[in-house]
Amino acid sequence: MSTICSQSSSSARWAGWSPLASPALFTYAIEHAIYGFLRPDLPPLAALAPERTVVIDSLSKRLAPGLTVGNMHSSPALTDRLASALRTGTWTAARFSLAAATQWITDGTASIIEDGKRRDAATRQRMVAQRLAAFSIRADPCAYHCWWDLPEPWRAETFVAAVARRGIAVTPAAAFTVGIGHAPSAVRLALASPSIENLDAALDVLAGLASTSPEDVGAE
Ligand SMILES: Cc1ncc(COP(=O)(O)O)c(C=O)c1O
Repeated sequence: MSTICSQSSSSARWAGWSPLASPALFTYAIEHAIYGFLRPDLPPLAALAPERTVVIDSLSKRLAPGLTVGNMHSSPALTDRLASALRTGTWTAARFSLAAATQWITDGTASIIEDGKRRDAATRQRMVAQRLAAFSIRADPCAYHCWWDLPEPWRAETFVAAVARRGIAVTPAAAFTVGIGHAPSAVRLALASPSIENLDAALDVLAGLASTSPEDVGAE
């Protein structure tokens, strides 16, 4: 089975997925929708090619990481094979998690939390836009991550090491690079976990550091 993995976050991505309609190019796609709740207005990729798309999702990002409840949706033709593959790794979700998840979904708590997270993501993206206004940031108000093309002469690994010494973790582009090609001098910022106060302080540190050169801070 060939698989294609992608995170669904922006409408621009949808256009690129039209080849799903062409069997010559794709056999199966895995739609990783864990952050899909940030854009509830977008149809899933599965709507374009329901026979060849497997949607996986979980409640870790929408509700709570400790909930450990996930779900998978596929065409009926694939269900048995996928279910047996799943059972080789795990048998069932914990009873408490399932009960809590079911309750929160049916009584509307999940929707309220999702709404709050959408507003929270937009708030955090506004902070990034303000604090890192001088830099090249690729972001979306409906995302909990952003991409930072670092200013020269910073290289991603050097920057990651320099910020780590200040207690901040960011991810270098190489972590997302497929194959052995050259990774850009960019880092990904994950905005969801820190408190608003810590995020604010961290963005200040990041902006200050990126405005200097690696030699200035003894990073090389
Ligand atoms: C993009 C992404 N997908 C999946 C997961 C794992 O989700 P779960 O805890 O529900 O297995 C994570 C966890 O951090 C994640 O960041």
